[in-house]
Amino acid sequence: KGKVKTSWVCSDCGEAHGQWMGRCRSCGQYNTLKQFSERNDGGKASGIGVSEKVRSWLPRGEDQPVPLSDVNRGISWKDRRIPLHGTFGKEVATVLGGGIVPGSLVLIGGDPGVGKSTLVLQIAALIAEGHELGKASRVLYVSGEESIEQIGSRADRMGIETEDLFLYSSTDIEDIFEKSQSIAPQALIVDSIQTVYLKGMAGSPGGIVQVKECTSQLLHFAKRTNIPVFLIGHVNKSGEIAGPRVLEHIVDSVLYMEGEKHSSCRLLRSVKNRFGSTDELGVFEMSQSGLQAVSNPGGMFLGEQFSDSEYLAGIAVAVTMDGSRSFLIEIQALCVSGQAVLQQVNGIQAGRASMIISVLAKQAGLKLQENAIYLNVVSGVMLKETAGDLAIAAAICSSFLEFPIPNSTAFIGEIGLCGELRPVSAMDKRINTVAKLGYKTCIVPKSTEKSLRGTPGFEDMKIIGCKNLKEVINNVF
Ligand code: TYD
Ligand code: MG
Repeated sequence: KGKVKTSWVCSDCGEAHGQWMGRCRSCGQYNTLKQFSERNDGGKASGIGVSEKVRSWLPRGEDQPVPLSDVNRGISWKDRRIPLHGTFGKEVATVLGGGIVPGSLVLIGGDPGVGKSTLVLQIAALIAEGHELGKASRVLYVSGEESIEQIGSRADRMGIETEDLFLYSSTDIEDIFEKSQSIAPQALIVDSIQTVYLKGMAGSPGGIVQVKECTSQLLHFAKRTNIPVFLIGHVNKSGEIAGPRVLEHIVDSVLYMEGEKHSSCRLLRSVKNRFGSTDELGVFEMSQSGLQAVSNPGGMFLGEQFSDSEYLAGIAVAVTMDGSRSFLIEIQALCVSGQAVLQQVNGIQAGRASMIISVLAKQAGLKLQENAIYLNVVSGVMLKETAGDLAIAAAICSSFLEFPIPNSTAFIGEIGLCGELRPVSAMDKRINTVAKLGYKTCIVPKSTEKSLRGTPGFEDMKIIGCKNLKEVINNVF
């Protein structure tokens, strides 16, 4: 029944092409096109692929156009969201834009082993423990990756105890929908999209056809039942498994979980959100008992703190933004005279570093020409923003002059070629973080000094505005 339509879909950006090509016309990636066949069942687009039985219990959507004035006006997304409490819950809720939107499909992507299953299990437990809705609420956690015993022992280790969290091991999407019907959960979790399949569709689980179709079905399910669905997707560059990139177009929200192997820090970043800002970043720490929100993330990347008597020359603190969050990072410089002239930088763009060194030499009169200069950002963070220029310059001055900067001082500002300090974005957010971490002094561009001085909360901090590098050197050294 129906014709089979074949197209070529890019596994990276999801763009469909009429024929095979070596390179995707849309995103420019090579070798990403995969054959994709869908059955065209004569215009009956709704509920394609789901059996009659499953379709019959799905609540029907509106069959007729509805005047805007009749649609639930006045009830904003905010009022309908399921809030999440506790420090962990609040952090997750922030990334989601203020809580879980009923009927939304949220994709959580990330490298295998980063902690996606742990994250969703904790979210599931929060809802099931009933603190969220004021009543016990069932949650269905379906895993195609692990047995229920495995999930159970993980939940044990994390200290989760609730009657209302239901675990189920399945990969058949229709079966998952049927079980959802009998349990009637407040939220459904599917771990992962790469393991589920829809009967009657071509392709193997994890292949682009199944991944796309199952995600569409889950979206359909979420919208019809108003049950929020969390869907996990592994990121895999090999191309065999359809990457969550393809799915980003289908789902409502996309969160990416990031983290280094050797570090316990985990970042949850919102990259798409139909119900909120994509500027949100959650900061967690992976512990023995699961993920914990980091209470003061601004200071996470700082190196060891020294007491007054042991300040070291060559260290300055910069303030950078990542999404809507600001972080303090420590820049180290080492100037060695009488050596072969060289510049070695780590964590800073080499071109930017050279420019700052040249400006210091020419506009501030530092005799850096005969020095080997090493620059490093502590904790392996990459400083991408020009807002860190001033801290880089300060670290170099400190090492060159062998004059330690008190470690209660932070630097914010971009440096121009004439040695002038230029304002940067989100100044108040940056200073807020500096103040929260107990810093006493902040060096900023002159033009932003005035507006910051009056700001409540910054009374205890000395904000020093400087026009150019010479003024900074006079003020600090
Ligand atoms: P997991 O959630 O299984 O990752 P994913 O689903 O993204 O593949 O978690 C992976 C790692 O997290 C695993 O190596 C063990 C570690 N972990 C902890 O450190 N503490 C914990 O409480 C849990 C549950 C896991
Ligand atoms: Mg997992």
